Amino acid sequence: MRIRVCGVAELSPGRAKRVLLDHRTPVAVFNVAGTFYVTDDDCTHGLSSLAKDGQVEGDEVECGWHGGRFNIISGEPTGSPCVIRLNTYAVEVIADDVFADVG
Ligand code: FES
Repeated sequence: MRIRVCGVAELSPGRAKRVLLDHRTPVAVFNVAGTFYVTDDDCTHGLSSLAKDGQVEGDEVECGWHGGRFNIISGEPTGSPCVIRLNTYAVEVIADDVFADVG
């Protein structure tokens, strides 16, 4: 199922945005050097919002609570204490909108 998550102009490079799918399931939309990615938004270590509390650095996001890190593209943890990957979602940009395939 493809869902619009934001407009292209809403998110500049290096920024992230938390979006609730169906008003309850949080995902994070990232703009990494002009390419959009969507992952789960809740950190797998302690449920911190990566988009709201985290810091984007290149293609990684650092959690604002305990400093764990994830690769935004793969969802794989890259820094302690995180050991469980984030789900990632296929992204499609159509005209001025960003869509995620959330299954
Ligand atoms: Fe993200 Fe602990 S909640 S590293």
